[in-house]
Amino acid sequence: MKVLITGVAGFIGSHLADTLLGMGHTIYGIDDFDPFYPKEIKLKNIAGAAAHPNFHFFEFDITEKNNWDILGKEKFDLIYHLAAKAGVRPSIEQPLSYLYTNVEGTLNLLEYMRSTGDTKLVFASSSSIYGNCKTIPFSESALTDEPISPYAFSKKSCELLNYNYHHLYNIDIINLRFFTVYGPRQRPDLAIHKFMNRISAGQPIEIYGDGTTARDYTYIEDIVSGVIKAGDYLAGHKNVFEIVNLGNNAPVMLMDMVDTFKKVLNTDFATVRKPMQDGDVDITYADISKAHRLFGYQPQTSFEDGLARFVAWHQAEHAGTAAI
Ligand SMILES: NC(=O)c1ccc[n+]([C@@H]2O[C@H](COP(=O)([O-])OP(=O)(O)OC[C@H]3O[C@@H](n4cnc5c(N)ncnc54)[C@H](O)[C@@H]3O)[C@@H](O)[C@H]2O)c1
Repeated sequence: MKVLITGVAGFIGSHLADTLLGMGHTIYGIDDFDPFYPKEIKLKNIAGAAAHPNFHFFEFDITEKNNWDILGKEKFDLIYHLAAKAGVRPSIEQPLSYLYTNVEGTLNLLEYMRSTGDTKLVFASSSSIYGNCKTIPFSESALTDEPISPYAFSKKSCELLNYNYHHLYNIDIINLRFFTVYGPRQRPDLAIHKFMNRISAGQPIEIYGDGTTARDYTYIEDIVSGVIKAGDYLAGHKNVFEIVNLGNNAPVMLMDMVDTFKKVLNTDFATVRKPMQDGDVDITYADISKAHRLFGYQPQTSFEDGLARFVAWHQAEHAGTAAI
């Protein structure tokens, strides 16, 4: 298949590209190396893919409509739209840039699809849409009208926009709500990666709140397998519009994450307490029965195993510089 991945140089996009290339697909990838974190990291993310003859990379900003002409009206069997400004806390500082990239960028992609007649889209949505939903685990049928950050608002807006284009132009779409993804190449702004950087540097790690907040951490390989299964489902079905959780269905409390770090690293380290931050939710917890029913999604990786694999990657990346 000929597949387009936006945000291909990012954490999830680069893993998706590697896996799809390994399966024999041809990948067209877009990324503008958004400065949210360093370009060098993103170039490293796609170093393996870039060496593959079936990988075609296009560096451009998806928010500029004219930039899409670079693709020359190329048609795709399947499109995975992952390019976005990610992260809850920075969205509170820069709401407008989140709206531009996430909503306007998505609109430009949908318009591109309309112009080429492409009809199959998997969209990277987010568990943050559930806000402080009181009913756990979070089900796709829950009310999501109370986003508590501009990032959550932008992703919810994209889901609504996607429905609009599904209705008007028969574009088949699956919105996948990812639950905190972790593993090798994880974004450096995310908790596990930040913690590991601090532990390696011999600094105390910061605990926001009383340690009872929980996240449904989902290992990157499980996410990529779910994303590909969603794509396969789209390819084999007509008139599809779905919203589907991709999580682990096993939330981990912050204090348990700290203990798991200690176990995996076989060491102790200091922690400092900080107040809860605006935009942070108390818990994320995915009901994954719909993903299982629709396309057989079943995460395989326990938190301890996944964390051990992340730690091994981090130590290899920082070999010679780590304090432990
Ligand atoms: N990582 C998670 O835990 C998580 C959770 C929920 C949802 N998501 C969503 O999954 C997707 C991928 O997340 P990630 O963690 O890999 O993030 P990432 O930041 O590593 O990847 C996103 C990529 O998009 C690119 N990009 C940003 N703005 C762009 C623009 N205007 N034009 C072209 N490219 C642009 C960035 O350069 C980056 O490489 C995002 O849409 C994110 O919102 C991620």
